[in-house]
Amino acid sequence: MEKAETGRAGGNSFSPGSGLPVQGGASGEGAGGSGIVRPERRFQDDDRDFSLRPRKLGEFLGQDSMKKNLSVFIAAARERNESLDHLFLIGPPGLGKTTLAQVVANELGTDMTMTSAPALDKPKDLVGILTKLKEKDVFFIDEIHRLKPVIEEMLYIAMEDYELDWVIGQGPGARTLRIAIPRFTLVGATTKAGNVASPLVSRFGISCRFSFYGQADMEAIVRRSAGILRVSIDGEAASLLAVSSRGTPRVANRLLRRMRDFAQVEKAPSITHAVVKEGLRRLEIDSLGLEKHDREILAVIINRFNGGPVGAETLAISVGEAVDTLEDYYEPYLIQSGLLQRTPRGRVASSLAYKHLQSGRTPGGEASLF
Ligand SMILES: Nc1ncnc2c1ncn2[C@@H]1O[C@H](COP(=O)(O)OP(=O)(O)O)[C@@H](O)[C@H]1O
Ligand SMILES: [Mg+2]
Repeated sequence: MEKAETGRAGGNSFSPGSGLPVQGGASGEGAGGSGIVRPERRFQDDDRDFSLRPRKLGEFLGQDSMKKNLSVFIAAARERNESLDHLFLIGPPGLGKTTLAQVVANELGTDMTMTSAPALDKPKDLVGILTKLKEKDVFFIDEIHRLKPVIEEMLYIAMEDYELDWVIGQGPGARTLRIAIPRFTLVGATTKAGNVASPLVSRFGISCRFSFYGQADMEAIVRRSAGILRVSIDGEAASLLAVSSRGTPRVANRLLRRMRDFAQVEKAPSITHAVVKEGLRRLEIDSLGLEKHDREILAVIINRFNGGPVGAETLAISVGEAVDTLEDYYEPYLIQSGLLQRTPRGRVASSLAYKHLQSGRTPGGEASLF
């Protein structure tokens, strides 16, 4: 059985029922009742530096076409003095969904209230938040694919009619009250768009799909963060760090902090190419930005399942991960890098994966002679 959980947003928290939604800050985190660590929580340490979070669209680097459209929609809503249409953010962890939600609120000049779907346990949790919003406020729900059906249905009416159905009492004496709520903007974020019910998806007027950041954007992000952390980094070093951060700003910021540690302990005047090269070697991060565990996943597919196809559940068990973590955190980048393919019959290692691991095997065959 799924246990109720409390949304926790690093430094801020929202307890269901306390009626105290919290504004601003980091991403909502939550752990399933099964004791499985959710990707968002596992990597929460990476978000410790709130100072690194862009606050305005201008500081939010990359994702250019998405940003261009958004700035038009925001400007238009402001001009009409209306709330922005509901916004749906889709993408793997660490690409900036929570950050963008806060940026949108800042650009709109409104406040943001944030929570995570698993924290919305009872209808009163949702009612408590929605009735406290102000006109045009942003209400951010992280992991929106994990909403309970009863909450989801209340949300439909809230999104469309800005009203709530609130049931008072029980049994034959129960009455339904319709409560008007302020016109707000819902921002829903998910790593799994496919798991969000289509009636909910269709109520979002704007959808943004995040893609992994390219080399130039990653370099710019590394440089910006280094500036904020007041550590100097050489051009070559920034470039190497950018390649090794799997197209993910959160990873870049984490690696940058580790490189700062290495440079400091080694008394290097700045983060140099040599510091990064040695640092990455010590962290076991390879030329494609893969960590040890990424390589283990590929190796298991190649060696134990003869290259695949292997089902997600079987693979997750074999590598000791939760299916969610495998699917949300590890797979998107392996797929993006062309190392892994998702097929209807399961996961398959590509020939590039064989080459990258310098496996003695060949795709579809047994160990080769060479
Ligand atoms: N476009 C961006 N430009 C600069 N930094 C970013 C950008 N997107 C994300 N970041 C950094 O990466 C970190 C993780 O972003 P976050 O919004 O928490 O990701 P998500 O919610 O998608 O998991 C943030 O703390 C922020 O510092
Ligand atoms: Mg987040």
